[in-house]
Amino acid sequence: MKTLLFVDDEPRVLQGLQRQLRPMREEWEMNFVESGGQALEFMAAHPVDIIVSDMRMPHMDGSQLLGEVLKQHPQTVRIVLSGHAERESVLQLVGPAHQYLSKPCDADELRKAIVRAFALRDLLGNEQLKRLTTRIKNLPTLPALQSKLTEELRKDSPSMDNIGETISRDIGMTVKILQLVNSAFFGLAQPVNSPADAAVYLGLNTLRSLVLSMGIFSQYDQNTCRHFSLEALAQHSWITAAMARKIAQSERLDFKIIEQCFLAGLLHDTGQLVLAFGLPGEYAAVISKARNENVPVWQVEQEFFGATHADVGAYLLALWGLPNPITEAVAMHHLPARCAAHEFSPAVAVHAADFFAHKLSGSNTESPPQLDIAYLARIGCAGRIETWRNHCQEDHPL
Ligand SMILES: [Fe+2]
Ligand SMILES: [Fe+2]
Repeated sequence: MKTLLFVDDEPRVLQGLQRQLRPMREEWEMNFVESGGQALEFMAAHPVDIIVSDMRMPHMDGSQLLGEVLKQHPQTVRIVLSGHAERESVLQLVGPAHQYLSKPCDADELRKAIVRAFALRDLLGNEQLKRLTTRIKNLPTLPALQSKLTEELRKDSPSMDNIGETISRDIGMTVKILQLVNSAFFGLAQPVNSPADAAVYLGLNTLRSLVLSMGIFSQYDQNTCRHFSLEALAQHSWITAAMARKIAQSERLDFKIIEQCFLAGLLHDTGQLVLAFGLPGEYAAVISKARNENVPVWQVEQEFFGATHADVGAYLLALWGLPNPITEAVAMHHLPARCAAHEFSPAVAVHAADFFAHKLSGSNTESPPQLDIAYLARIGCAGRIETWRNHCQEDHPL
């Protein structure tokens, strides 16, 4: 049985939740408490899979509570359900909350968010990786890009184009601002897939307080994990993103899907960053084995951890509320045949783009992946490979 804990200082809200979620009581053990103190007391005695907390509460507010939960119970998924959409309070949750839902929230939306979080936890079987991923507040960023962003934001009239471009060159920054913009607090009808659009939605003031005063981005120390270079990964990810976009354009797809392909390409190897950052010793051994034996790094990860960087990256992105087509493409980028779709999808674009990007410049960790020709034939795309290659060559000669 999965255990849930709901925290709200208004008994009426708790009763409402209890009533709305009653149909789930065979599957979930639901507990309801009225303060942060009671929540921590409860958690000290019972393991909790997901905590759903109100934001504004007396004594200990939602961000303090979730910060404490993160410290004491890093494996618990942390969701905020709040009616107070002030920017300042949202920004305080940038670290400790995985997702933000706004009150009043219909039971179906809440149920879906919880079911999705449980499904993802089950998907990533390895407990150590689950804990590691749930604990992460921020992904490290490239120092050079962070300084560039800081410099731009300090200008009297910064250029939004430069800001968007700088953010989209960095995996950690992109993920963080997309997490924020796609949260319920911004109330956007459609998920945002472009880092540049996300920067515009957040606006200069919010970006300034996030980056300059709150320092939400942590810098990556190049010596963290031997054999792993974040710079090389960023470069590989950028090329993969550009190629995935080219491939989608050559398929004459909708603008929204083209953007999804670009973003999925940019984030496809996020799991490598999680592993290099979270388990540097083990991951250095994985990379070195993959290199010595000339096999794809994900196969060695599977052997070592029982999961790959594709699983870990998809889990993190989904936990942070990034749109489904992106997390699916990240999860399936090595093995697109696992996709439910039997047609062209962002997963296919990223799979092919990753292959071309490796051909172009290799990558510091992975030996060249193989194209899954059988799957591409099954979905009627095998004949398109040469066209894709030609389009990708326009900017990057292969
Ligand atoms: Fe990969
Ligand atoms: Fe890759």
